Amino acid sequence: MIKAPFCLGDRSNDGSALEICHAKIMPTARQLFKSRLPNVAELLRMTNVGVIKSSTKESVSLRLLYFKSKGMKMNDVLSVGVIGAGGIARSHMRAIEQNDNIRLVAVMDVDADRAESAAAEYGGKAYTNLEALLEDAEVEAVHVCTPHSLHADQVVAATAAGKHVLVEKPMALTVVDCDRMIEACDQAGKILMVGQVMRYYPVNRLIRQMIADGEIGEVGHLMRRRYSYFNPTQPGSRYRHWYLDLEVGGICVLYCFGPHEYDILHWYLDSPVQQVYAQGTESTELYEGQKDSYTAVMTHANGAVSVLSQSVVCHASAHDQYIVGSKGSMMLAGQKLLVNGEAVPVNGANGDGMSNQIREFATCCLEGREPDASGRSVRHSMAVIEAAKHSAEWNAPVQISEFE
Ligand SMILES: NC(=O)c1ccc[n+]([C@@H]2O[C@H](COP(=O)([O-])OP(=O)(O)OC[C@H]3O[C@@H](n4cnc5c(N)ncnc54)[C@H](O)[C@@H]3O)[C@@H](O)[C@H]2O)c1
Repeated sequence: MIKAPFCLGDRSNDGSALEICHAKIMPTARQLFKSRLPNVAELLRMTNVGVIKSSTKESVSLRLLYFKSKGMKMNDVLSVGVIGAGGIARSHMRAIEQNDNIRLVAVMDVDADRAESAAAEYGGKAYTNLEALLEDAEVEAVHVCTPHSLHADQVVAATAAGKHVLVEKPMALTVVDCDRMIEACDQAGKILMVGQVMRYYPVNRLIRQMIADGEIGEVGHLMRRRYSYFNPTQPGSRYRHWYLDLEVGGICVLYCFGPHEYDILHWYLDSPVQQVYAQGTESTELYEGQKDSYTAVMTHANGAVSVLSQSVVCHASAHDQYIVGSKGSMMLAGQKLLVNGEAVPVNGANGDGMSNQIREFATCCLEGREPDASGRSVRHSMAVIEAAKHSAEWNAPVQISEFE
């Protein structure tokens, strides 16, 4: 019989009620309360469990019992810490809750309030010091969710401490730093994955598979646009001002949005970029000192040409693409996919991407397998971005081999 001292109001007094309850419902106490399952109240009544307090320790304990009830051993579950408890970290923590093969044991932020409120909401210990989190033996892997200029050093420190790493995009602000991160992970024998969440959107996986299966023949041209108006200084913006600081965030259009966009092109085609020619412009006061719009033309190893046009100062937004092959064509706008002009159903939504990504990370760490969005694979995207930046500065095509 599992004892459940954290289960207040368990009228059976020996934990038996909870055993039934946790076996049937969700992995954490928070989800127990916030679950959209229509029958939670009924289940609670049925199992005799009155109230489960949702403090950190208790929610972790409940999770352990849940794994046990499913016949899972703790080494089937990756214990992670999240570094940086800002906007995207909360999406990571929600996705951790959605997956059985991963659990949150720690959160670290230099801002104590953010660390503590995230830990109170999602579970785990709160830290304000990176070294302390990295010394925590319970933490097997970390998610680096901090501003861009911190990624490289935090990844190197985490792998040196023996942790696997999932680092948010952009992998880093320079290819030199990407190489430093890959080498550190190789030396420590740890997994390095980058948060290329768009690779985990069901529609993107379908497009990649259809191209690989030759559904539209040999791809000749791929044209993609991403336009939006991105102003973190606007009142009410959920983004912080560091995104406009060149030293911290890098050129915003290239290093905030670009990592998703440049990455997906060579990933779809499974063919690296060999040459890039880009032009960029500095259009507004908001982005004074940096270019806010770029268009890049890339030649891939398989001969295909891709064109990416991006802007962060366009009030009407667009996020779409056209792919033209020898036997057909595809169009994607948002999540709507057309193949040869006909709508194709997609099994799953873009909103599933984060959860899919987190599951892949945990699986790879537990099985010692290289993730699809590995540091090595994403390093290529960062080389293409750096080449695009130089190309626009020099007004000349740049070979990616220069970054090898
Ligand atoms: N995958 C996506 O679609 C997506 C979306 C948004 C952001 N991101 C990426 O996620 C990362 C974080 O972005 P965000 O919008 O969540 O930023 P944010 O500013 O909301 O959060 C960053 C957090 O890091 C903390 N921090 C700052 N310095 C720190 C340090 N030295 N150690 C620990 N914590 C520190 C801050 O206090 C803050 O809470 C960036 O790399 C960003 O590009 C990805």
